[in-house]
Amino acid sequence: MVNQNILLTTVFLVIVNNCRVYSRALTYAEQQIQLCINQDGTRQPLIIDTDSDVDDLWAIHYVLNVPTIDVLAITTAIDGYTKPLYSGSNVLTFLDLIGCSNGVGVGFGATLPLISAGFQISPALLDALDTYITSPTCLNQSVNIFLQPSAFSAIELIKLTLKYSKVPVDILVLGTMTNLATAISEDRSIVSKIGTLYFSGGQFKPLSNFSSLMPNLTIFNYLYDTETLPASPNAYLDIFAMQRVATSGIKKIVAMPGSTQHTLPVNLTQLFETLKRMNITLKPFILNFISSLAKCQNATESDMKWWDNSAAQFMVQMQTNNSQGFCRQTKNVQSLYIMSADAHQFYGQGVIDTDMLLPNASGLVNYTICTQTDSSIFLAEFLTKINSEKLYSCQHQYSQRFDIRLQQCMLKYDSAVQPTNMAKTNHFLTPFFLSVYLFLYVTYFLA
Ligand SMILES: *[C@@H]1O[C@H](CO)[C@@H](O)[C@H](O)[C@H]1NC(C)=O
Ligand SMILES: *[C@@H]1O[C@H](CO)[C@@H](O)[C@H](O)[C@H]1NC(C)=O
Ligand SMILES: *[C@@H]1O[C@H](CO)[C@@H](O)[C@H](O)[C@H]1NC(C)=O
Ligand SMILES: *[C@@H]1O[C@H](CO)[C@@H](O)[C@H](O)[C@H]1NC(C)=O
Ligand SMILES: *[C@@H]1O[C@H](CO)[C@@H](O)[C@H](O)[C@H]1NC(C)=O
Ligand SMILES: *[C@@H]1O[C@H](CO)[C@@H](O)[C@H](O)[C@H]1NC(C)=O
Ligand SMILES: *[C@@H]1O[C@H](CO)[C@@H](O)[C@H](O)[C@H]1NC(C)=O
Ligand SMILES: *[C@@H]1O[C@H](CO)[C@@H](O)[C@H](O)[C@H]1NC(C)=O
Ligand SMILES: *[C@@H]1O[C@H](CO)[C@@H](O)[C@H](O)[C@H]1NC(C)=O
Repeated sequence: MVNQNILLTTVFLVIVNNCRVYSRALTYAEQQIQLCINQDGTRQPLIIDTDSDVDDLWAIHYVLNVPTIDVLAITTAIDGYTKPLYSGSNVLTFLDLIGCSNGVGVGFGATLPLISAGFQISPALLDALDTYITSPTCLNQSVNIFLQPSAFSAIELIKLTLKYSKVPVDILVLGTMTNLATAISEDRSIVSKIGTLYFSGGQFKPLSNFSSLMPNLTIFNYLYDTETLPASPNAYLDIFAMQRVATSGIKKIVAMPGSTQHTLPVNLTQLFETLKRMNITLKPFILNFISSLAKCQNATESDMKWWDNSAAQFMVQMQTNNSQGFCRQTKNVQSLYIMSADAHQFYGQGVIDTDMLLPNASGLVNYTICTQTDSSIFLAEFLTKINSEKLYSCQHQYSQRFDIRLQQCMLKYDSAVQPTNMAKTNHFLTPFFLSVYLFLYVTYFLA
């Protein structure tokens, strides 16, 4: 009898917990939309949010060639390392140049951070990144002007993709958290549909490394060329968005810290040696794309790292549980969001040694971070995947693309989705009622 009660309680709690986690059950009409979209159920769905810098495009190219992932949408954050006019169009242009012009929808996103850190990215750097693909002194590619962004904005696309995906969706954030923070603020029920959040950046340094926890008001604009390591632009360009996302209740957050990213330099000697050793001949455009960054922005090779690309590969390593991956050591840490002008940041994010320094701190967020890497494993995996040209996530016909299906299916069932049309809402099949039915059934018929 005791065992039966425990069993009953467990079943009940599992269902109630399910009800709480997936707190907003879909209405009947919304379920029709979900079925109509006809999502591929065999691969891990993913949304990539990007500031469209060149290292983001390397990362996107890599992920599109990973067989276990289905990229449902790419959304652009327009407050980072590209100017608003270029952020979305550069992603579209790049996708077209690698043969993925129809397979993945690109939603254009927020142009301003929730709170600006006051940090200004050098206009010279932005100019070089914006025109990286087309400039005659860089890759000299022509643009297909008929490319179109998604009919949904970045924030709508994030909310609707999470809502209608049949299974939780992983999110890879390669720029600031602005789009995701806004999406979560507008509809908190999407949080439960986020699988794991992967972030490129973050500064997980000990609290003791912050020399001051008060903003230094004499410093207003921090110049790019005075940035010191391991500062993380993706975090501090919108630290408020990052704080909101991190404390929203997402089940698991994984980050590739800025400091670890700096252990992966773009070493052209190593790159060409690896290509030779692996007998890989990349297409000229692709080879230029991954090897010309220093030349195109008038910098030196030693300034160049693989940056966001390493966050993408870390994600794949974690998703596939690959113990042979390039990240040789991970660590579980707790992070705090603090106001600080230290390390060229008005607002800071850090703290690993909380146990000693802040035993009672609230607002700490758990992260899994990568702390050690192997650059030869990294490079071999990157080159193998981009050379494969499989473009798994680009296989959809335009009409079957996730955002296009989403739009069609929403139009088809549109009248039913209106909140006033309660008749079609299937209240009695919500997890709460299902659990009551089950409880009654088990109690009366099995007892
Ligand atoms: C750039 O491309 C155009 C047309 O494809 C070509 O005529 C021109 O010579 C190229 N410029 C450079 C610097 O390669
Ligand atoms: C913290 O400070 C120490 C001493 O200044 C330095 O060696 C270390 O690299 C710093 N750690 C981080 C993560 O910034
Ligand atoms: C604030 O920054 C200025 C300029 O770098 C520096 O001279 C000053 O010492 C800093 N003040 C504090 C309290 O750290
Ligand atoms: C670049 O790679 C080559 C070959 O792997 C290596 O010998 C060299 O030390 C590397 N250079 C730097 C700056 O890491
Ligand atoms: C390298 O690849 C080419 C075709 O891409 C092939 O013809 C050649 O035999 C390969 N060489 C080695 C040493 O594997
Ligand atoms: C490149 O940088 C050097 C040194 O910083 C500068 O003298 C030169 O004018 C720059 N060239 C361009 C095209 O910006
Ligand atoms: C990953 O590996 C761990 C330990 O080896 C195991 O417990 C876990 O179930 C694995 N996860 C997946 C998704 O394979
Ligand atoms: C943490 O909280 C406990 C219990 O409230 C208290 O005894 C302890 O002094 C606190 N520690 C610090 C460092 O504040
Ligand atoms: C974070 O991890 C610690 C253990 O490292 C755990 O005690 C705590 O409950 C976790 N917090 C959340 C919000 O998951």
